[in-house]
Amino acid sequence: MLKTEISGINFENPLILAAGVMGSNASSLNWILDSGAGGVVTKSFSQEPNLGYSNPTTVAVEGGILNAIGLSSPGVQNFKKELALINKSNKDGQKNIAIASIYGSNPDEFSNLVHNIENDVDMIELNVSCPHAMSGCGAAIGQDPDLTYEIVKTVKNASSNNIPILAKLTPNVTDLMEIAKSAEKAEADGLTLINSLGPGMKIDIDAKKPILSNKFGGMSGPAIKPIAIRWVYDAYENCDIPIIGVGGISNYKDVVEFIYAGAKATQIGTSIMYEGIEIFSKIKNDLKNFMQKNEFNSIDEMIGYSHKN
Ligand SMILES: Cc1cc2nc3c(=O)[nH]c(=O)nc-3n(C[C@H](O)[C@H](O)[C@H](O)COP(=O)(O)O)c2cc1C
Repeated sequence: MLKTEISGINFENPLILAAGVMGSNASSLNWILDSGAGGVVTKSFSQEPNLGYSNPTTVAVEGGILNAIGLSSPGVQNFKKELALINKSNKDGQKNIAIASIYGSNPDEFSNLVHNIENDVDMIELNVSCPHAMSGCGAAIGQDPDLTYEIVKTVKNASSNNIPILAKLTPNVTDLMEIAKSAEKAEADGLTLINSLGPGMKIDIDAKKPILSNKFGGMSGPAIKPIAIRWVYDAYENCDIPIIGVGGISNYKDVVEFIYAGAKATQIGTSIMYEGIEIFSKIKNDLKNFMQKNEFNSIDEMIGYSHKN
């Protein structure tokens, strides 16, 4: 009943761990897969190790949190060891779906990464959208339709096993649809919408300075959900590739909203920090009850429903 499919990859349910939250090592990824998630996305990693920013890197604000981790990464050689330890199936015997989130500063870095890991995971998500990345990575790419096209196209050509490629995009642009269409034209297999919003800032009024070491960071959590919903809705109207919705999900109603807007699956990040990993089984059960009550037999029947009315 809860199954959903994206570019030939079959998910047991539409609830996926979002990149960057509890995705740094195989043991926490396996834990989340065993807890009922339909799939997991790793924390974004790069070719070479990157220390990221110093603490504090996250701070709670009204409606969510700000983070500026600075894309800290152990480098692909170290991360590959974790990828190898992700279980092929969960404790209930269902196939686990692992998605690697990667970032780089140019097409070569992205394609080398794809070569390196395409046999270790089921899908690859390109993070071209981090709002606080260092040195030309992240949103510097995803704010430019031509660069986005070039990265996606290069990655698609670099893959020797045709692994599905998702482009994760930033809302921090004037027209996200222009970037989404570029990714689609470059033959991305799906869009992940959205990365964190902003960036924003919080000031400590006693210390009289910004709290984050990077001063500003990306906003996530419930407050960004309406913006994410709007972009998923628009992408459903403007693009023909599958959409994964992410931003502020904390309960089954949020998931239904994203699916009605046009998402085939959803990702959950910040809410895990408040609700724990039980959030996956809780939403799964609530979603099933909602579907039964509303006489839906499959997720497919619900996708894009709000466009009909
Ligand atoms: C602490 C933290 C770290 C994150 N790290 C990454 C990352 O490494 N790569 C990425 O693509 N997105 C990253 N994100 C963004 C999330 O994957 C997600 O797009 C965003 O937080 C919105 O979803 P949420 O409101 O459910 O958290 C991070 C978010 C948070 C809160």
